Amino acid sequence: MSHLTARWLDSGPEQGVTGYLLFSLGTAVIGSLQFGYNTGVINAPEQKLRSFFNDTWVERYGVPITPGVCTIVWSISVAIFSVGGMVGSFSVGVMANRFGRRRSMFLVNCLAVIGGLLMGFSTICSSYEMVIAGRLVIGLFCGLFTGLTPMYVGEVSPTPLRGAFGTLHQLGVVVGILIAQIFGLEALLGSAKLWPLLLALTVAPAVLQCILLPFCPESPRFLLINLKQEEQARKVLVRLRGSEDVSKDMQEMKEESAKMAMEKKVTIPELFRSPLYRQPLLIAVMLQLSQQLSGINAVFYYSTGIFESAGVKQPIYATIGAGIVNTVFTVVSLFLVEKAGRRTLHLVGLGGMAISAVLMTVALLLKDIPVMSYMAIVAVMLFVAMFEMGPGPIPWFIVAELFSQGPRPAAMAVAGCCNWTANFLVGMSFPKLVEWCGPWVFLIFATSLILFFIFTYLKVPETRGKTFDEIARSFGGDPLPTSSVLCGCVGHVTQHTRPLPGRLWS
Ligand code: GLC
Repeated sequence: MSHLTARWLDSGPEQGVTGYLLFSLGTAVIGSLQFGYNTGVINAPEQKLRSFFNDTWVERYGVPITPGVCTIVWSISVAIFSVGGMVGSFSVGVMANRFGRRRSMFLVNCLAVIGGLLMGFSTICSSYEMVIAGRLVIGLFCGLFTGLTPMYVGEVSPTPLRGAFGTLHQLGVVVGILIAQIFGLEALLGSAKLWPLLLALTVAPAVLQCILLPFCPESPRFLLINLKQEEQARKVLVRLRGSEDVSKDMQEMKEESAKMAMEKKVTIPELFRSPLYRQPLLIAVMLQLSQQLSGINAVFYYSTGIFESAGVKQPIYATIGAGIVNTVFTVVSLFLVEKAGRRTLHLVGLGGMAISAVLMTVALLLKDIPVMSYMAIVAVMLFVAMFEMGPGPIPWFIVAELFSQGPRPAAMAVAGCCNWTANFLVGMSFPKLVEWCGPWVFLIFATSLILFFIFTYLKVPETRGKTFDEIARSFGGDPLPTSSVLCGCVGHVTQHTRPLPGRLWS
């Protein structure tokens, strides 16, 4: 803590961390909290929802729902969230460019209100379809925020603290999961009567964020680079940095802007076609896949069952314990990420998770030995802790770092959509995989973790402390001379059309 504080104090005025910056970041991160809350909320009330499906069925058809149909309705209610997430995350680029970052966040909150109300009134209207529709709308909402929050946070943060602040998105997510786990306890909102309120609670942070957003600035990068409102961007920066001297930030943004003026506007198909973006896109997608195919959500969606099969007596408390470890280690990562770097933390995380997955397999295989239930708990906690060291937070914010302003929204959309698709696949297939592989199931994740470790080791560059433009250049070729950039010289157009191996590449 003291190290980081010291860095903040040491940093020049342009790197200043003001109350206004923290307020703006805090407001944006409410979107992350919503994503976490809605990820975690559906777990605890499973049995209550199932009996609601049955009651509705009896009311309509006079017969109880068959277990098979009930499971189908339940699985759809869980999984449709990720389907909404895929569509939502894919639409991020269009929204963020059309309405701006701040206005998009504001508008997207309508979805939380609609989704929350649909789920909240489902019992009164005796309609399980409303739960499903609500989950879909909430998924759309969360998908949009998994792009909007990291983009906004990346664009308002000072370069030296972009990683630490980037981790705030994941911190919001994990706190959201933890709140959902705690509120989901039977004694709180997880009861047969109150579960609709548990699901509808997502409306409250949405309203809060709508109240706070008008006091936050639009991203200065969006103002300068997309809207060409230089004076406005300067004013915002002055307030965010708490200093009149924002020339360094302004110059950096202008360089990016000049570069963009030479590039065509980047759409998703162009992102795939241009050789220039091939390497950063591959990295962005692989990092997102490494996050989801690590198996983290097998733990977050099914941990109670995993603990049960390992012989743990009070699985729900072990699950909450995992939520607490999750939160603590995200904070640890927040303080390490500017010190150790993204690449190192991602490698440590993936390696540590692979070891934990093997430990978990041993614990599940030898579950008849009493001490093994403790080993299972330790293995799950270690798995979660290692996840939050790198694979949890880093993929979300590194995409914003790997691309300059032009391709950034399209890249965030593609990366986010890959993340949600992999999330959906793991969520849907894990119960079947358990049926097929039994206690060996975590070895599948161990194998994928090792493969992603190798990829990261060979291919992922370090982005710590570099400006967006420096990072983009490391993929794109020769640096632009500053003078020519600032006078708007267009003599370097061709440099962006040929793929050059970046100097960061092995
Ligand atoms: C990341 C993942 C999300 C997961 C969470 C767990 O944000 O994207 O799917 O549930 O971490 O902390």
